[in-house]
Amino acid sequence: MLVEVITIKKQTKPVIQVIQPKILYFGTPVVLLSTWNEDGTTNLTPMSSAWALGNRIVLGLGEGGKGLANLRRCGECVVNLPDASQWRHVEKLARLTGANPVPSYKQELYRFERDKFSAAGFTPLDSDVVQPQRVEECPLQIEAKVVHLQESEGFAIVEVEAKKVHAHEAIVWSERHVNPSAWNPLIYSFRHYFGLDQELGKTFKSET
Ligand SMILES: Cc1cc2nc3c(=O)[nH]c(=O)nc-3n(C[C@H](O)[C@H](O)[C@H](O)COP(=O)(O)O)c2cc1C
Repeated sequence: MLVEVITIKKQTKPVIQVIQPKILYFGTPVVLLSTWNEDGTTNLTPMSSAWALGNRIVLGLGEGGKGLANLRRCGECVVNLPDASQWRHVEKLARLTGANPVPSYKQELYRFERDKFSAAGFTPLDSDVVQPQRVEECPLQIEAKVVHLQESEGFAIVEVEAKKVHAHEAIVWSERHVNPSAWNPLIYSFRHYFGLDQELGKTFKSET
């Protein structure tokens, strides 16, 4: 006779505290945002306040940054998504700004850099439907155009529409699907970099 033993783990109640965290970066993928400078070169802004729904991506960008100024002026960008292994390249951009002069509130910690690609050790690649260049080394490169820009206090919320998606062959499952087991986004969680741990499962809608 087969006896099925079911163990139900008793969950212990968490002790919950009220806290006042200085930042609320609860863990989102790092984006290297390509935008178009006045002189026809491309600026790269490392950022992580980004999420996608359908073919739209929403970006949160601080005032005073060159990336935001370029988006306001030109309305085009590339949302490049680095792999977790590329975090040191991303960090090389962390103290840089494409804004010249450097805004006063940033002068202590940041310096102006015209060529962010060289500074990070990345290769520029021409885009197909937008002016800013892509980052060749990033496994996902999404060419996009601004559809809505909302001003807030000290930052802007920018909604962009994806126009063309480029992916490294190594993470492609099929023309319609990225292989989630091969794709390892760089996650920014409370100012620390992480990759993904092993897969836990998938949702009922997954086709891969
Ligand atoms: C991993 C990482 C994530 C960041 N996330 C954001 C962000 O979501 N929004 C933002 O405005 N700045 C963010 N920053 C700060 C900008 O990268 C920084 O202000 C930079 O100087 C902007 O460059 P730019 O002036 O050339 O656009 C982030 C920086 C790092 C390193």
